[in-house]
Amino acid sequence: MWRCSLLRRHLATSAALSAGATASSLGDRQGQGPGATPRLGASCEVRLWGPGGTRGRSAAEIAKEAEAASKPCWLPTTLAEEAGGLARQGPLYAKLAQPPFDEEWARLGAVLVERLTGPKGAADLPLSAIDPQVVRRIYHTYLPIYFWMRQQLVDIECTRLSRGDSEKRAVVFGISAPQGCGKTTMVELLKALFILDGMSCQALSIDDFYLPASGQQAVAELHHSNSLVQTRGNAGTHEVSLGERTLQALSRSREGEVQLPRYNKSANRGRGDRAPSQSWDTAQMPCDVVLLEGWMLGFKARADSAALARIHTGLPLVNEKLQKYQAWDDFIDAWCVVGVEDIKQVYGWRLQAEHAMKESGKGPGMSDEEVRCFVDKYMPAYSAYRDTLYAAASGEGVDKKPSLLFHVGGDRNPVSNE
Ligand SMILES: *[C@@H]1O[C@H](CO)[C@@H](O)[C@H](O)[C@H]1NC(C)=O
Repeated sequence: MWRCSLLRRHLATSAALSAGATASSLGDRQGQGPGATPRLGASCEVRLWGPGGTRGRSAAEIAKEAEAASKPCWLPTTLAEEAGGLARQGPLYAKLAQPPFDEEWARLGAVLVERLTGPKGAADLPLSAIDPQVVRRIYHTYLPIYFWMRQQLVDIECTRLSRGDSEKRAVVFGISAPQGCGKTTMVELLKALFILDGMSCQALSIDDFYLPASGQQAVAELHHSNSLVQTRGNAGTHEVSLGERTLQALSRSREGEVQLPRYNKSANRGRGDRAPSQSWDTAQMPCDVVLLEGWMLGFKARADSAALARIHTGLPLVNEKLQKYQAWDDFIDAWCVVGVEDIKQVYGWRLQAEHAMKESGKGPGMSDEEVRCFVDKYMPAYSAYRDTLYAAASGEGVDKKPSLLFHVGGDRNPVSNE
């Protein structure tokens, strides 16, 4: 229950402050001078709204009260306005049913600036002094996704409460995004934002559920003529039940601890193996939010095997294995689907990553030819399944669940084409 009211308060306060801001902007125009009028920061909410909440009152009424109670915690007008202005230019802004107030963008934007640019104090700089790529990533990608998810969390939570559904606790978000588009960083930052807003959050990758080395070897031997399952990656190379058990425990447990499986890509002489369970991370229950990401998450098995065989002779087997993966999707409450306009872009991103790794001296990295062979294994599945996933996400939702879909360009930022 507390989560629901906590988040509702967030959103109501944003709306209220937004209305309040109109009043103070008017104040500006009446001669107090631009930039001189400080505004209420979103972090005032706890002081402003007690447990009585905002029920039954209009945003205007709340705003009036907010103005009257406007003691402290000020943000310079310019910073918040700059943040809000930037946010509104992003292609994802229009997908927010209740976009937060400028101060809320500025508050969390500052946190992300500091995390991404390092030095303390960067958060106080005007946005014009920060790398424009970083600023765009924050205001056009990470924050809109986060605000969208936070809204879903409130909606899902409140629906469950109204139905008296107390069995499920965590809200599970599925993040489907092609390799190299930056989903690891994205998930890390989303997790940090949820935690900052007072929720417990765990992040998992479908990579964590790969078969152990011995299991992978058995699959490769059994289907020795199928190049798509000779190494990990495609459907058929995961232990689906391990993912199911983990998601089940994370979303249902009320107390205790849950072990989070981890895969070690450097183990087994660089070929990869499941990390020994003693080295797995431990999640303290209860967990409020689970973020599950994967390059093929949400891909749905198809019925037309013959058409699949024309894409790649190994695909019918992958398709058959894919049926079981619905068990993961069943745990997911809402989807974030990142599409890429030109799937060939995955080659470019992977080359970039390998070159960067070589330059930083962190490892030998793959040769360009090895990168091509590596990515080749994934292309048939992208060709076979991504269009259907994107269509579902932009239509009635993946598995009819709330879904946010956007496409990114080569710079990994959303493009405005939908
Ligand atoms: C992964 O495996 C490598 C090679 O065996 C080992 O050096 C490294 O410590 C392992 N990493 C983790 C996180 O277990």
